[in-house]
Order: sequence, then C-alpha cells, then structure tokens
Amino acid sequence: MIRTRILSSGHYLPEKILTNHDLEKMVDTTHDWIVQRTGIEQRHVAAEDETTSDMAIAAARQALENANLNGADIDGVIVATATPDRAFPSVAIAVQAALGVGNGPAFDLSAACSGFVYGLSTADALIRSGQAKRLLLIGAEKFSSIIDWNDRRTCVLFGDGAGAVVLEACEGVGTNADQGVLSSHLHADGSYQEMLYVDAETQFINMNGPEVFKFAVNSMSKIVKQTLDAVGMEEKDIDWLIPHQANIRIIEATAKKLKMPMEQVVVTVHKHGNTSAASIPLALYTALSNNQLSRGDLILFEALGGGFTWSSALVRY
Ligand code: UT7
Repeated sequence: MIRTRILSSGHYLPEKILTNHDLEKMVDTTHDWIVQRTGIEQRHVAAEDETTSDMAIAAARQALENANLNGADIDGVIVATATPDRAFPSVAIAVQAALGVGNGPAFDLSAACSGFVYGLSTADALIRSGQAKRLLLIGAEKFSSIIDWNDRRTCVLFGDGAGAVVLEACEGVGTNADQGVLSSHLHADGSYQEMLYVDAETQFINMNGPEVFKFAVNSMSKIVKQTLDAVGMEEKDIDWLIPHQANIRIIEATAKKLKMPMEQVVVTVHKHGNTSAASIPLALYTALSNNQLSRGDLILFEALGGGFTWSSALVRY
C-alpha cells in the first residue's frame, strides 16, 4: 500500500527578535508574567516588507535542498496559513512559481493553528489516492500583521515564521511498522468561533484565553487517545510528541496525559512564541537539526486552532 513519508524539512525565521523585555516597553506586561503563563521568552517578527510568501519560499527552498531535489521534482504545494499576503493567488502559487514546482495542485489551507496537521492529512490523501507523488507542505504565518500591538492579552503570544516538509509516496505493507503517516484525525466545531478569531473590522486577533486554554487541554487529551486507538497502539509506543506551540502549560498537560517525560516532547515555544500553522513544522525542523529524531521513530503531532479546529497525526519518521 502507498504511504506518505516525510523526506526532509526546512525553516525560516525572520531576523528580528522581539524579547519579553522589548514588550515591557510597549505594553503593561512583565517578562515574568509572560514566562510563567506561557513559557514564551522571545519571538521572531517579520520585517514590514517581508511577506508570508517570502517566508514560505525560504522554508520550502531549504526543505528541497535538504532532500537534494529541485522544484521540478515536486508535483504540488499546500500552504497552511491564516495570514496569506492577499486573497488570491495563494501563497502556494507564489511558492510554485518561485521554485519551479510542476503543474500539480497548489493551494492554501485555512485552519488557523491546526493548519499544518490539516495539510498533512490532506497531502496524505492526495498521495495515497495516486494524485501526487511528492508534495511540498508548508506552514507559514505573519501574525505580526494581525496583532493589535496595544493589546497585552494577545501581542505577547504570537510570532512569525515558516516551516516546510517534502512529502513523498513510499511503499508500505500496511502495518504500524511502515514508514509514513499511519493515522490522522481532523475535527472542527464552529460553535466556538467567537473564542478565537480575527475581527472583520479591525483585522486584529481576539481571543478568550482561558476558554481556549480549557478546550485545548481537553481536546488534545481526547484526540491523542483517538489517534492511538485507530491503529491499536499505546502511549508507550510514541517516541516523540511534537505539539502545536501555543503555551508550555498546554504542552505539559498533554505530555502528562500521555505519561510522557518532557525529554520526549519537542518544545520551541520559548524561542518562537505561537507561530500558528508554522509552529509544528518549525518544531520538527528544530528537532531534526538537533539530531533528536531518528528514522523509524514514531511521532505524534497535535494542534488546536481558531474555529475551533483540532487535529492529530501519527507518523513514523
Ligand atoms: O494557538 C491557538 C491556541 N491558543 C491557545 O492555546 C492559547 C490558550 N490560552 C492561553 O494560553 C492563556 O489563556 C493565556 C496565556 C492567553 C492567558 O493566560 P491566563 O493564565 O489564562 O490568564 P488570564 O487571561 O486569565 O489573565 C489573568 C490576568 C488578568 O488580570 P486580572 O483580570 O486577573 O487582573 C489579565 O488581565 O493576567 C492579566 N494579563 C496580563 N498581565 C500581564 C493578561 N495578559 C497579560 C500580560 N501581562 N501580557
């Protein structure tokens, strides 16, 4: 049977770093409050003229280099983003043109912070159905463009950046020992739209932090169980948890539920803040650069975002 495996990864983080101490000069906040409540110490912020497409292209270019491939070796592009440069053409189209990707599908996917895992599941479906052999999947965000820099409840939380993976078809035998995506789960519940959204008028992000926090902890615990049950595996089978990086307390609660020591959890929230759809591929890239992951390791990805949307994927690297 066809499986979808992760061939390589790449990343891009803007040059400018905004520390908590920088934010202390902008709004009524403290480094200690931000660290204690979120774990975030700093975040990267894109230059004014730097677009989501620029970041997506840079991350994708590195992923291609790391796989020793050219754009022409790739069938299509999926970009998970909530902050595209413009309504259309999509960020994915900009990536396709810049890197000379073939004439397969190229589209953006909007599922907020859950976008990368939504994209992974979608790419897996395209590859397993034979519609593509190799795809670029990118999470790219410029959240600094939708932040009210006077609102301390939100401006301390988010960052900009992009992460990319090259996905390719491989042969599996249909067991959990196969390399690639073993199981993925996508969910949404639109009755929570007002908990986390971009205001249509101001174009600024709004969030009911405590309610999002509660839902995140509950839904992540449930989806982890669903993901493992689907393939008849147990918590102890997972080698790495690569969660969406919104808040260290949510990440720790999920790890505890999985009875997983934090040594097996990839954490980048302290350095990147919450980069929405870019957070998981950035964390994956970081773990690979640090030689934390080995081929054959079982990785659990999970995320929650505005909508709410929430999602998970179990992948043998
Ligand atoms: O990526 C999508 C998913 N997003 C998430 O998962 C985020 C989930 N939510 C959270 O991570 C947390 O709810 C936050 C980090 C956003 C907030 O932490 P909290 O512990 O839930 O704080 P809170 O909103 O209940 O606020 C506690 C206090 C309030 O003051 P009072 O009303 O108790 O006097 C806030 O006004 O902290 C105050 N506060 C701040 N103080 C200093 C809120 N933001 C700040 C700030 N600096 N930046």
